[in-house]
Amino acid sequence: MVLARGTKLVVATHNPGKVVEINDLIRPFGLDAVSAGALGLPVPDETEATFAGNARLKAVAAASTAGLPALSDDSGIEVECLGGAPGVYSADWAGQTRDFALAMKKVADEVTRLQGWTVPGPRANFVSVLCLAVPGRPVQYFEGRVYGHLVWPPRGSKGFGYDAMFQPDGHTLTYGEMEPHAKHATSHRAIAFAKFVDACLRQS
Ligand code: IMP
Repeated sequence: MVLARGTKLVVATHNPGKVVEINDLIRPFGLDAVSAGALGLPVPDETEATFAGNARLKAVAAASTAGLPALSDDSGIEVECLGGAPGVYSADWAGQTRDFALAMKKVADEVTRLQGWTVPGPRANFVSVLCLAVPGRPVQYFEGRVYGHLVWPPRGSKGFGYDAMFQPDGHTLTYGEMEPHAKHATSHRAIAFAKFVDACLRQS
């Protein structure tokens, strides 16, 4: 499915951090991006146990309500020694108020309880699964992962979510310390987005 320049595309997320990042990634391709929040679309319950399942839920809900192509992202952080937790439940670890200082502390406490905190910190990776839903077409998925390790205490106030406790391999800064363009050059979302571009935008 190729999306021509000028196509209206719903960015099917209510997460302000993701809206900014996805809009930055989409901008060069001339799509007319509008967020689910700006269209007043409801926030669907994320009831699936996989990133792909939740991404599909969000994209299909937005596409069918708006009658437009919709691109969603379901993502999270997986900590190796926690068996991949918090994973699909990354947002839930931040509680109702979406307090990510609290979520990061929960991750650090859980690691410390299990095995103590050594430097460098435990291996972890971010995952992003993008889902494109176009009314009347099969959905398409695009996945990206980035590997690194956790730091404690968190460093940097750029970015969002767990950015300040994640240092990608080959870098000395956390995502919380990097400028947005530096994060976009390496991130899980950018890797997934590049696959979406190859499949759906490059030819237009
Ligand atoms: P969901 O995809 O809406 O379920 O939310 C996933 C959660 O994972 C977000 O609320 C963030 O806390 C976290 N997350 C996903 N991507 C990133 C990222 O690029 N940086 C930091 N945290 C992220």
